[in-house]
Amino acid sequence: MTAASQTENKPEKKRYYEPAPEGIDIENFKKVVQSRRSVRKFTDKAIPNDVLDECLDLALLAPNSSNLQPWTFYVVQNPAKKKQLVKACLGQLAAKTAAELIVCIARTDRVDEMAKRNISEFPFPEAPAAVQKYYKFIPYNYKTGYFNALGNFKKVAFKVARTLDKQLPVTAFNAADAKLWASKTTALACENFVLALRAYGFDSCMMEGFDEPLVKKILGLNAQQYPVMVIGAGERAKDGVFFPQYRFDRELFIQKI
Ligand SMILES: Cc1cc2nc3c(=O)[nH]c(=O)nc-3n(C[C@H](O)[C@H](O)[C@H](O)COP(=O)(O)O)c2cc1C
Repeated sequence: MTAASQTENKPEKKRYYEPAPEGIDIENFKKVVQSRRSVRKFTDKAIPNDVLDECLDLALLAPNSSNLQPWTFYVVQNPAKKKQLVKACLGQLAAKTAAELIVCIARTDRVDEMAKRNISEFPFPEAPAAVQKYYKFIPYNYKTGYFNALGNFKKVAFKVARTLDKQLPVTAFNAADAKLWASKTTALACENFVLALRAYGFDSCMMEGFDEPLVKKILGLNAQQYPVMVIGAGERAKDGVFFPQYRFDRELFIQKI
């Protein structure tokens, strides 16, 4: 049998196709991106619950490492907790006047659970064998083990493998690497969230000006849950933006090589 006739006889592999949607309004997209500003003063207007929920849902659609979704978003609405949180945000006006305060947490404590969910909730009747294999292996890439035993082992193993010209992916060699891994992905969801708010006519201020231990205490976070930023959200006050937006020369940042 020739190779050609062999491929002809093979049953056609079922593929999933998702065509790229057309007709997206680039002008409106640009308007959303370009009109997003860090707003430091909000009006008293509340964000309707359905709008807030929609924006949070859009945040959760952000690309994320291995689809492990290592994040939690605390919408702090309890008045006493909110007051404590404003204090933790150094009393910033953006926090004090915000209709909503959302604490965005990167977490490295649910890697196993999320890997299992990727198998059990895969959107085909059964996760393909390659997917199952991937999610059995991938947690080890982002975990570091007790007393960093796994992280240290990977450090040595990666060093040896690289001497053999092996190409290896980003991994976590220690807790700081794991934190960076989860934070990178969580920040993408934060951006989705603020752009969604803008599209709905609301505004935001991302804040990392907060007392991290105090925020962790207010929310009762464990050692593997890291507040990445607090987002103040609400309606932009007339004097809510303090100066025009500016960026440096694009040549400083973009290099086509
Ligand atoms: C991770 C991060 C942390 C930030 N923290 C604060 C903050 O604590 N307080 C604040 O007023 N602005 C904060 N900002 C807003 C930046 O100062 C602002 O994005 C930058 O000056 C550019 O202005 P623009 O957002 O209006 O384009 C933060 C932004 C980011 C992305």
